Amino acid sequence: MLKRIVTLITLALFISACEEQQELPEPVEDVPVYDRLIAVIHPTEGNDTQGVVTFSREGDDVRVVATVDGLDEEGLHGFHIHQYGDCSAEDATSAGGHFNPYGMPHAGPTDDERHMGDLGNLVSDENGIATLDYIDPVIELDGEFSIVGRSVVVHAQQDDLETQPTGDAGARLGCGVIGIAEPVD
Ligand code: CU
Ligand code: ZN
Repeated sequence: MLKRIVTLITLALFISACEEQQELPEPVEDVPVYDRLIAVIHPTEGNDTQGVVTFSREGDDVRVVATVDGLDEEGLHGFHIHQYGDCSAEDATSAGGHFNPYGMPHAGPTDDERHMGDLGNLVSDENGIATLDYIDPVIELDGEFSIVGRSVVVHAQQDDLETQPTGDAGARLGCGVIGIAEPVD
């Protein structure tokens, strides 16, 4: 008798467990679509470079808007998306190299063959502030090669847009991880 009750209880628990499983939502099959991403740049050890970079959908292209301060006066500073969203190292070397999902050579933002991460240079003014606002045809906000979860790096030196694979842009002054931002109209 006891054995039969235990069996019934076990059966009841099993059935309720099955019902609970059936209540789970269906898995989402579509890949996420992002209309606006943001990176907040923080200075690396011994530097003061900080800023904000946004990436927003502009038709088939991406509008890149950056404001960065804490730079030297009137200088050019290599500006890239790097492979890893890891700014943990004191010198941000943990961010890896330029984001390059298509195996292209290093170049500038207007070149057809370039790293996806090649954003060229920031130009600082007499106050050490740089602003940038341009349309980029290569950056991808979503899909397999999305820049989400990667990083933006500002360098000490000018990117010559030629030297492989870095543009010879020198040390990393600031680094920020690219995250998902609330869309704005
Ligand atoms: Cu870089
Ligand atoms: Zn590059």
